[in-house]
Amino acid sequence: MKKILVAHDGSRPSSKAVKKAFEIAEKFQASITIISVIPELFLTELMEIDRARISETLTGETARMMEKITASAKGLLPVKTVIRQGNPAEEILAEAAKIRADLIVTGSHGRHGAEKFLLGSVSSKIVDHAACAVLVVK
Ligand SMILES: Nc1ncnc2c1ncn2[C@@H]1O[C@H](COP(=O)(O)OP(=O)(O)OP(=O)(O)O)[C@@H](O)[C@H]1O
Ligand SMILES: [Mg+2]
Repeated sequence: MKKILVAHDGSRPSSKAVKKAFEIAEKFQASITIISVIPELFLTELMEIDRARISETLTGETARMMEKITASAKGLLPVKTVIRQGNPAEEILAEAAKIRADLIVTGSHGRHGAEKFLLGSVSSKIVDHAACAVLVVK
């Protein structure tokens, strides 16, 4: 267990996933990559400049959120952060393949879903398609 990829969307369940990933990484002396995907904007009716501005704001917010998490590791573990735009499940799976992750850690739910459903659509796609082990944190 050398490389752990953890998916963070700013939700409470994904913060729990990050916490759990850190615990595991410490035990296994593994490195952590935290990925946050900004969902593609389907705001076709907006002007290009508005879309660019919204995208910039979201990227800035995400970057700040990731900095806080990295700071909380206090240099005890190697932590890398990655921000992508696009389809969250696809981008997370692509990053896992790219870094040859041994484990992907996600939350059971995210920012949008209703908790009455068993799993969110992103985490369930990852469980279905990942080439490595997946830990879904509740
Ligand atoms: N945009 C994203 N970037 C990074 N990780 C994500 C993103 N969206 C979801 N995840 C990961 O997947 C986990 C489950 O979220 P998911 O989106 O599947 O559930 P949901 O938001 O409750 O439901 P849905 O999005 O299907 O309506 C999150 O806790 C997080 O680990
Ligand atoms: Mg979601």
